[in-house]
Amino acid sequence: MLKTIRYAAFAVIAALAVVWGVVWWRGGGIAQFGLDNLGISVPGGVSVGGPFTLVDTTGATVTDATFRGRWMLVYFGYTYCPDVCPTELQTVVAALDTIGPLAERIVPVFITIDPERDTPAALAEYVKLFDDRLVGLTGTKDQVAAAARAYRVYYARANATSTTAYLMDHSSFIYLIGPDGAFRALFRQGMSATDLADALKARLAAGG
Ligand code: NI
Repeated sequence: MLKTIRYAAFAVIAALAVVWGVVWWRGGGIAQFGLDNLGISVPGGVSVGGPFTLVDTTGATVTDATFRGRWMLVYFGYTYCPDVCPTELQTVVAALDTIGPLAERIVPVFITIDPERDTPAALAEYVKLFDDRLVGLTGTKDQVAAAARAYRVYYARANATSTTAYLMDHSSFIYLIGPDGAFRALFRQGMSATDLADALKARLAAGG
């Protein structure tokens, strides 16, 4: 079972590496490519995002359809994450603060990949540390796994010292989903809030 998961995880990483490679090759490097300001477009035929069924911080079931009509900025992580997740969530919030009223059209969503510890109550406490707009979603292990699979998110438990003290390895991208529920763009880890804000302005201006 563990082996299967490892192979599956490897396949996901390999697929993402191919996507990155194609984007890189076509653009002559992300940095010099105009896409830097618009996010990374995924080549045709590669599907990212899609339907999910999860649980919000009140314990209510929500699906991707719950957010239809609004843009979503989706990030997968976990509340015990020591560094990357808090940084990326701060970037998301700072970018939304930068774009003014346009931000009202975007729902920032944090989906945990650690549902065992990230209960609705734990997530509620966590998201409000960042911003009242931030929507925290968890679910059963299967629900979370299905959502992560749809978004091609890799995650796995790392260096467990006990059943409650452990870190999670996880891929770290910010996903922009259009009001129709379709994937629009992928933003890399470490992008500045200013660049993300510029990208959001451009993407929203380009329309739904
Ligand atoms: Ni993290």
